[in-house]
Amino acid sequence: ETPSADDAPQLRHDIATVGVVGTGTMASGIVEVFAKAGYDVVVVGRSDDKLAGVVKGIEKSLDRAIEKGRLDAAAKEQVLGRLTGSTSREALADVDLVVEAIAEDLAVKTELFGDLDRICKPGAILATTTSSLPIGDCAAATKRPEWVIGMHFFNPAPVMKLVEVVTTEQTLPEVDETTKALCAEVGKVAVSCGDRAGFIVNCLLFPYLNDAVTLSESGVALDEIDAAIKAEANFPMGPFQLLDVVGNDVSLAIQEELLKEFGEPGFEPAATLRDKVAAGELGRKTKKGFHDYS
Ligand code: 3HC
Repeated sequence: ETPSADDAPQLRHDIATVGVVGTGTMASGIVEVFAKAGYDVVVVGRSDDKLAGVVKGIEKSLDRAIEKGRLDAAAKEQVLGRLTGSTSREALADVDLVVEAIAEDLAVKTELFGDLDRICKPGAILATTTSSLPIGDCAAATKRPEWVIGMHFFNPAPVMKLVEVVTTEQTLPEVDETTKALCAEVGKVAVSCGDRAGFIVNCLLFPYLNDAVTLSESGVALDEIDAAIKAEANFPMGPFQLLDVVGNDVSLAIQEELLKEFGEPGFEPAATLRDKVAAGELGRKTKKGFHDYS
């Protein structure tokens, strides 16, 4: 059956203002996505410095777009004018949707969801961009689990088209539908996923990345593996380049969630991945991961 326009998800709830919690790579990218699409965005971070960092990153990205002739100075000011920063979560009281992009730590996230439940207005959609933790656990930290959903963006969020929309058994159908319609409005492609480890993409991607690490442990050079995959599969990056973009800490956390859910054989994180994390060689963000960026 061919989908018709009538089948496209509709915005069942008005979304005008979006809250983003976090100031890291994913949070910044997500703020940029919504602000560029015309939404007012309230960014909540732990310090004014971190909030300033988000604005600086977005400015840099907009400047790049100006250089390439895709944006003018007035449009840049409009996008920046849609951003409001706050170090207080209370600033989220009136937003229509919150996307949480803080640390991949369940205790940290459930504490936040408890707060969002207390602070956000009724009818606000509470979303998490977690890549490795159950959406159901975030939902269970609130008294409104039917309003909680996963919106899993990919890195770099302003560029990658995909958003995995993850529902639990409790998520209201209209929350799912609004979230998918919103993805389309901001230029993304939404796919539906159940609340299982790795959702769709990471469930397939991380065993491959982990296998690449194991292959390198057997003596094959990183650059050769990267070059082989780029040329053969036409991927924009080889596995080690991609691990360095994702961050080895994030990759290890995802691999461990896959191991927990699917067990052996094959899901045990490669020893070198653990070593990299222990050594603080997390990838581009620390200037050293599998490759060197200093
Ligand atoms: N923010 C905003 N824009 C960015 C950006 C960023 N961080 N990084 C790149 N861009 C833009 C550039 O401005 C450029 O835009 P233009 O072509 O319109 O001028 C465009 O993206 C291409 O960038 P570059 O020319 O600088 O470089 P590349 O062509 O090498 O592209 C890349 C960079 C988009 C990162 C590309 O290498 C790529 O697609 N890599 C794979 C990324 C990927 O697979 N991500 C998914 C990881 S898994 C994940 O996130 C899941 C999680 O749970 C772990």
